[in-house]
Amino acid sequence: MEPAVPKTMLAWRATRFGGLDALQQQDIAVPEPGADEVLIEVQAAGLNPVDLKTLQGHYPLVKQDALPYTLGRDVAGVIVRRGANAQAWPQGARVCAFVGQGQGALADYVAVSASALAGVPSSCPIDAAGALPLAALTAWQGLFDQGKLQSGERVLIQGASGGVGRFAVAFARHCGAHVLVTASAHERSALTALGANEVIDYQTQRFEDVAGEVDLVFDLIGGETQERSWKVVKNGGALVSTLNEPSQSQAAEHGARGVRYTARPDGGQLAHIVELVEKGVVKIEVADRFAFDDTPKGFERLKAGHAHGKLVVLRQSSGSV
Ligand SMILES: NC(=O)c1ccc[n+]([C@@H]2O[C@H](COP(=O)([O-])OP(=O)(O)OC[C@H]3O[C@@H](n4cnc5c(N)ncnc54)[C@H](OP(=O)(O)O)[C@@H]3O)[C@@H](O)[C@H]2O)c1
Repeated sequence: MEPAVPKTMLAWRATRFGGLDALQQQDIAVPEPGADEVLIEVQAAGLNPVDLKTLQGHYPLVKQDALPYTLGRDVAGVIVRRGANAQAWPQGARVCAFVGQGQGALADYVAVSASALAGVPSSCPIDAAGALPLAALTAWQGLFDQGKLQSGERVLIQGASGGVGRFAVAFARHCGAHVLVTASAHERSALTALGANEVIDYQTQRFEDVAGEVDLVFDLIGGETQERSWKVVKNGGALVSTLNEPSQSQAAEHGARGVRYTARPDGGQLAHIVELVEKGVVKIEVADRFAFDDTPKGFERLKAGHAHGKLVVLRQSSGSV
């Protein structure tokens, strides 16, 4: 039997573009899942830089006409409704997903495409599952879909101590690459434990003086860090960025590829990543948890930076984690 679902729900929304005062809790209609979607009762929703950029009006894919806009791109929770083409997922299944553009997980419920879902085993705490999808898929797609990273290659991960970078370190090491990273000195032991072979302190060292040549730079910083990165990309290599479009003239000069990409939901890849988590290959590090009503505090923490692990909002109804 399907559980009762109310008609309305609470959601944290960007009511206009601006500071944290533009983030408001509103009572809105529970979304109706489409034929290819499921409705998830949210138990945990990871926070990511994109949520803050969206609120501030700095995320180009969310424009003024999309306001008010429900924030939150990571969800873990339980399936409570299934569209006609999403019946393969059992009612009550514990799942996580990177939710697509236009949907928001900082709410009681979110409708998500079934193709974005991965099951969450009972051994995985729900807060960890809510922290996983966007950052882990970004790392996976950057290293392998875009960067074509192979065993035995050398990769430099710029900004390895953040949400995406920590997953990237573990994935790159697991695939057999030699992993160089840039991070603050106090992150050295944590990143070494995750799989970094060499940690370069970006505050006291210039990576181009010590890294040598690499097959791939995975750039999570952009700006002048990205520009300087060309100095270490070897001929035939690649510079892949989540931020700025790399210079194509520099790419041509180095006989390399320069790519900027946007991560996308992918349930198949996410299920594979969840398996790696179960096997202990990848650890999900939650730096801080916030009650749903304290979501603005989570955004303050996001804005302050230096989190070194993921930030997660928990629904009170989700109970223990
Ligand atoms: N295109 C996409 O689809 C996509 C997807 C996900 C993320 N992103 C973007 O990718 C970026 C990274 O995401 P994230 O979630 O990993 O962010 P994050 O958690 O904020 O991590 C960024 C990390 O970089 C470190 N850092 C800052 N300056 C640095 C420098 N010059 N050199 C090396 N490390 C430095 C910071 O640590 P300290 O300051 O403490 O050293 C921080 O841990 C964000 O800008 C995000 O918006 C894009």
